[in-house]
Amino acid sequence: KKLPAHLAEVRTTPITHAAVIGSGVMGSGIAYTLASRGTRVVLADTTPDALANGFTRIRKLLRGGVKSHAITRVQARDLDDRIQPTHETVPLQHQQLIIEAIVENLPAKKALFADLASRTSPTTILASNTSALSITEMAKDVPHPERVIGLHFFNPAHLMPLVEVVTHPGNTPEVIATAIKYIQSLGKTPILVNDRPGFVVNRILMPYLLGAVALAEQLHDPWEIDDAMLEFGMPMGPLRLLDEIGFDVALHVEQTLRAEHGNRLPTTNLLQRLVESGHLGAKNHKGFYRAHHEKSGPQP
Ligand code: NAI
Repeated sequence: KKLPAHLAEVRTTPITHAAVIGSGVMGSGIAYTLASRGTRVVLADTTPDALANGFTRIRKLLRGGVKSHAITRVQARDLDDRIQPTHETVPLQHQQLIIEAIVENLPAKKALFADLASRTSPTTILASNTSALSITEMAKDVPHPERVIGLHFFNPAHLMPLVEVVTHPGNTPEVIATAIKYIQSLGKTPILVNDRPGFVVNRILMPYLLGAVALAEQLHDPWEIDDAMLEFGMPMGPLRLLDEIGFDVALHVEQTLRAEHGNRLPTTNLLQRLVESGHLGAKNHKGFYRAHHEKSGPQP
């Protein structure tokens, strides 16, 4: 797919060195994706344990790739070598792109960008993988705000082709064109979206997912809801998808959307109650399903 006409002539530099901050579900998948296309990646998290969990996820993806013959053992080793761990406040002067995938919380992301601005070159692109928060808000107090952009990958990042490229009015054409070309070089499909809560996908997806949650609350048989949507032709049932997304992550998106479009969302507070009682979905084995593919019914 071609670049939009106004970006086609813009000069861009290929990205070879990147950093991913936050090695959770998304950060580890994004680091794997970048490294699989040759980018050297520094992966960071707040604690050695969290970082180790990220590398466990990456090694699982590598083993899966070798087992399914998608990559050879040598390619897996090279890919692994391209991802370097760090949990120090190391300088990131040589990174051309930094993608944050930390907790979905605006003050936390703003604090991170302020810190990153002091450790990077003014031309380093600072990207957020936020699901629904405002990129304009994130860019506000960052020196050289023109380099702050949204790169919204979907879960699982190594398989999902779509990436929403979220721009704000201060972005330069160079930053937008570089981001789009890089996403294309990863074999993904970038779409340019406006900086509105939920962007495009979550703005459409969340009301659907919350509709399923509201039904599950009334009917108490989530697999029937999922089976209905599978038979309808969806690739995955909405409640199983929520298990994969994580209830905490989905709740943050719900709250952002409710603040803006509350009257358009189904009435339910089940996600909030689930999170408050320690249910986070597949990541802590406490979701609508006990384990993948198991029709075990709701846990709460
Ligand atoms: P997660 O909870 O699995 O991982 C977050 C990681 O960030 C944790 O390892 C945590 O220790 C680390 N972290 C928190 N604060 C940090 C900081 N200041 N510096 C460095 N690391 C820090 O969360 P997940 O699901 O990976 O989500 C991350 C971001 O991606 C969120 O903004 C979320 O909305 C977004 N997202 C999530 C999707 C999903 O399906 N889970 C899909 C697309 C976007």
